[in-house]
Amino acid sequence: MPANIAELIASMTLEEKAGLCSGADLWYTKAVGRLGVPAMLVSDGPHGLRTQKGGSGTERAATAVCFPAGCAAAASFDTALLRRMGTAIGAEARALGVGVLLGPAVNIKRSPLCGRNFEYYSEDPCLAGELAAAFIRGVQSQGVGTSIKHFAANNQEARRMICSSNMSERTLREIYLPAFETAVKKARPWTVMHSYNRINGAYAGENRQLLTDILRKEWGFDGFVMSDWGAVSDRVAGLKAGCELEMPASGGVNDRKIAAAVRAGTLDEAVLDKAVARILNIVLRWADLAAGPAPELDLAGDHDTAAALAAECAVLLQNRGALPIAQGQRVVYIGGFAQTPRYQGGGSSHVNAWRVDGALEAARARGRAVEYVEGFPADRDQREEAEFLKAVEAAEEADVAVIFAGLPESFESEGYDRKHMRLPESQNNLIARVAAVQKNTVVVLHTGSPVECPWADDVSSILCMYLGGEAVGRATDALLYGEADPCGRLPETWPLRLEDNPSYLNFPGNGRTVEYAEGVYVGYRWYDARRMEVRWPFGHGLSYTGFVYRDAALCADTLTRDGSVTVSVTVRNTGARAGKEVVQLYVADETGTAGRPPKELRHFAKVALAPGEETQVSFTLTARDLSYYDEELGDWYAAPGRYAVLLGHSSRNIPVRLALRFATDRRRPLRIDADTATDDLLRDERTAPVMRSILQRFGSGENAGMTGEAAAQMFESVPLRAAVTQIGGDQAAAALPGILAALRAALPEVKSKE
Ligand code: BGC
Repeated sequence: MPANIAELIASMTLEEKAGLCSGADLWYTKAVGRLGVPAMLVSDGPHGLRTQKGGSGTERAATAVCFPAGCAAAASFDTALLRRMGTAIGAEARALGVGVLLGPAVNIKRSPLCGRNFEYYSEDPCLAGELAAAFIRGVQSQGVGTSIKHFAANNQEARRMICSSNMSERTLREIYLPAFETAVKKARPWTVMHSYNRINGAYAGENRQLLTDILRKEWGFDGFVMSDWGAVSDRVAGLKAGCELEMPASGGVNDRKIAAAVRAGTLDEAVLDKAVARILNIVLRWADLAAGPAPELDLAGDHDTAAALAAECAVLLQNRGALPIAQGQRVVYIGGFAQTPRYQGGGSSHVNAWRVDGALEAARARGRAVEYVEGFPADRDQREEAEFLKAVEAAEEADVAVIFAGLPESFESEGYDRKHMRLPESQNNLIARVAAVQKNTVVVLHTGSPVECPWADDVSSILCMYLGGEAVGRATDALLYGEADPCGRLPETWPLRLEDNPSYLNFPGNGRTVEYAEGVYVGYRWYDARRMEVRWPFGHGLSYTGFVYRDAALCADTLTRDGSVTVSVTVRNTGARAGKEVVQLYVADETGTAGRPPKELRHFAKVALAPGEETQVSFTLTARDLSYYDEELGDWYAAPGRYAVLLGHSSRNIPVRLALRFATDRRRPLRIDADTATDDLLRDERTAPVMRSILQRFGSGENAGMTGEAAAQMFESVPLRAAVTQIGGDQAAAALPGILAALRAALPEVKSKE
């Protein structure tokens, strides 16, 4: 502990120390005036500032720029973009006196129904983690902290303060923690916000394994943990587990409990001192930085940045020729969203936006020949017959009909989940009718997560803007008219229907618990394993130009445990327009290890290429890229043998497959006793020779009436005690202790956790 902090703590009363472990009000930490400790302001987040300087929560939030929400930002697949966005938000935060921005929000999109998916990044932890790290670096480069949230496994809104997310340790480690792990290790967020929910029965905020063993000891987190707002259940238990700051204020109730516990001897004062030190460390760091000159608030400049970013987040899902729209074509815009785009979600992340650009206004400002018919309202599911017919008629007469569809605000928000995955009926009906009379029908989507698109095969083009922030209309205009090239990729699978989603039978659980029964098979890991047809796969996104890969190579064909192998590929823009490609690297385990998804994203890179230009992209692979979390070892583990390194335009468009061998002498522990299955002993190269000689000594293992192959298969799951009697009768049964000793001798000392 730094000397100045130790001194401060030594001069604080027990009450002051306990008091520092909860907020002063809704948004400020407590000051200790007599010791010169200032109060620090924290504000939402994540895609723009919602700052209420009064602290009571009653005033209107300060005006700020609303950037693309997490769903859209993630579709950029672009760490440089996330960094740029973080830097801009960080600068606004700094200008407005905010100490910590409450974001990024990185929970995994387990179900398309989660009400808060619009704030989150992806169904894939690699993508979510890299983007979060870049965003954090951007914000923190401005002398403002971040609070990565919601730690952890908060994947639904239903009963979020009660429900226990129940899952195996492997699932937690492989799917729900790595986004936090990557961000903590690479970008060192100042704070982490623990989630409301329980995990396997224990509240996240009272979970020592999560908040201390994993977060601090394994990952090296050195900031402080704060609770989500009102998430604290047992304050003293939370403090012991590793939650330093309760937010917001508890009215002094929990501060008194902490002081009483110290006095009663049930809470070691050293635990309290450590928590106070961690809080002071960040508050004083912020105070130091805040004493320097702050940037001027530049909302107009940030609005332009938001427009540029929104264009890079859009995903062109389908294009059968209607896009880009050519100058001179007669165009009709249909749908309330053309005028009033939906650009952000509801709840704590809701920004008091500086100004909002609609696509219609943007088109008119550019002098484009665009007619407008509302057709359906943006804020509710309502069919108005005259408007409906007017829209169909206008579409029939135009060269191109662009329908601005999407989810009304009330359909998705923090605090509750969606009930279904459909667009409003009035929109689906109108799209179908327009598509029947106009072959150049384009659908622009404003949604925070996937929707069923029953009309997809009937329309020409579909452009998904997600919730693209306050300048979304300007970006949409540039994309529709080909002044910008769509370069986003889907950060989540769009299933054909909700029932296909792996969590379908276990979402949102029974009110008290939700079983993550699909385990690690989340998103594309599931759709690929089941070889299911999907509407659009993870990583999918089209462009107005095209890209090809050539000269893909590994620098070596074998990776060792402590080594690395470089993968490189040359990407060429083969079209006539400038564009951006996202090279996606997936790894497939071909060693025969059970229970591994067919492939998993491990790296990605976005490159900008002029027409005809090419560039080399490379990635560095290490053992962790091949690994899964082995519960028995309590560590990441990759079996020796064959892996495939896949390079693709999307998870289902993979032109390159390279073979990589993994060489390691590390083995999973093999327990040898009379119940060990014969198959395990034959498959392990250490025990296989011993086993084979036993089989030879006592018999062939073939049964009458069975082929050798059938007998061998039947034999596989037989335990050693039964196997020896089957193959060698009494004689072999008597030899069992000797056989066990010989097998054990074949195993060198097993090393676990390294
Ligand atoms: C949300 C957090 C948010 C906090 C403060 C909570 O309800 O879950 O994400 O940062 O409120 O507004």
